[in-house]
Amino acid sequence: MLKGKKILIGVTGSIAAYKTATLVRLLVKQGAMVKVMMTPGAEQFITPLTLSTVSGNPVLMHLSDNDSWANHVLLGRWADLFIIAPLSCNTLAKMANGICDNLLMAVYLSATCKVMIAPAMDEDMWNHPATRMNMQRMDEYGHHILPVAYGSLASGLTGNGRMAEPDAIVDEAQRFFFRTQDLVNQRVLITAGPTYEPIDPVRFIGNHSSGMMGFALASASRDRGAHVTLVTGPVQLPDITGVDMVRVQTADQMYEACHRVFPETDIAILAAAVADYKVAEPAPEKIKKKDDTLSLDLVKNKDILQSLGAIKTKQIVVGFALETNNEEANALKKLEAKNADFIVLNSLRDAGAGFGSATNKITLFSRDGKRFQFDLKSKQAVAEDILNTILSHEKH
Ligand code: CTP
Repeated sequence: MLKGKKILIGVTGSIAAYKTATLVRLLVKQGAMVKVMMTPGAEQFITPLTLSTVSGNPVLMHLSDNDSWANHVLLGRWADLFIIAPLSCNTLAKMANGICDNLLMAVYLSATCKVMIAPAMDEDMWNHPATRMNMQRMDEYGHHILPVAYGSLASGLTGNGRMAEPDAIVDEAQRFFFRTQDLVNQRVLITAGPTYEPIDPVRFIGNHSSGMMGFALASASRDRGAHVTLVTGPVQLPDITGVDMVRVQTADQMYEACHRVFPETDIAILAAAVADYKVAEPAPEKIKKKDDTLSLDLVKNKDILQSLGAIKTKQIVVGFALETNNEEANALKKLEAKNADFIVLNSLRDAGAGFGSATNKITLFSRDGKRFQFDLKSKQAVAEDILNTILSHEKH
């Protein structure tokens, strides 16, 4: 419940603005006091009347109306949390540069509370270096970023750039208000993303892992007070403030980085989709096309999870299993074979689970035979479920 929490919602010009009505309704249903501000551009996508009706408060749009002045400083101070959803490319750029040309920007620049942003834009805009740089700034300013989802976009194309779903935003708001600091003085090691195994100087063997699950685990652990090392393969995600970032390419590099920090680690969660095989001898020069077929000699990569499971002393070691069939039996086999304490199963048969998706559906198995099943949730919420389960289980 969010009873009595004061939440300010900023709405900017994006087609996703229609979802903000649902977001406001969900927050009000949880007991929050919600005030809504809109940029002039947002009005083209949703009416102030809709948002004032669902929030129960007049919608604020202008710095001044006739002869009265909207007190942006007090509005920023009134809120316990300021959520900008959807955040358009344009307002993002203004926030990154401190441009104050409307009420929403004036409130943003004078807000003293936590700012949460849910960007929404077309994939090409999302990938533009200017947007990447602006998002990096959001992270540096300490804002809470709700990752964009993959799916169909307003342009008719499919890609990254959809706004986080309203219930995922509400989950994040809940977490912001009721966060527990139960990982203070704990060192957490997390792996994320794919690994790229070189074939020659320009080609590699890789996979579609986005790194989102591992990154969500890293920021959730940091928020609970842990000292976090995130070892990640090549992904499109920005560094997480307050987390020791180790960016690697290959499974061998990931192995080295993990073993370096493991002796000091309390909890290791291995969410990376490590390539099982690497090319035995990557070509020193670009391979030219010649024959109709080409054979590559592959050799097995070292199994990082298994190697850590074999040397663990005090550490809690958690692995992931992504399965397409015989899910439970395969996951339990991995738990045993790799001497892990927990294994997180996600099945590719579940819609909304696995690579590239902003959501996941997991079942957790513990070494002592317990089974914890969860619904489809945002990867942030899944990260919290994983940490809650590990920590509460370990206490017993
Ligand atoms: N893993 C690892 N190092 C590897 C391969 C996997 O640390 N070289 C870890 C993953 O991070 C994950 C777990 O092991 O936590 C399960 O990975 P998966 O690839 O599904 O298991 P495999 O044992 O490789 O089984 P298979 O590919 O046959 O399903």
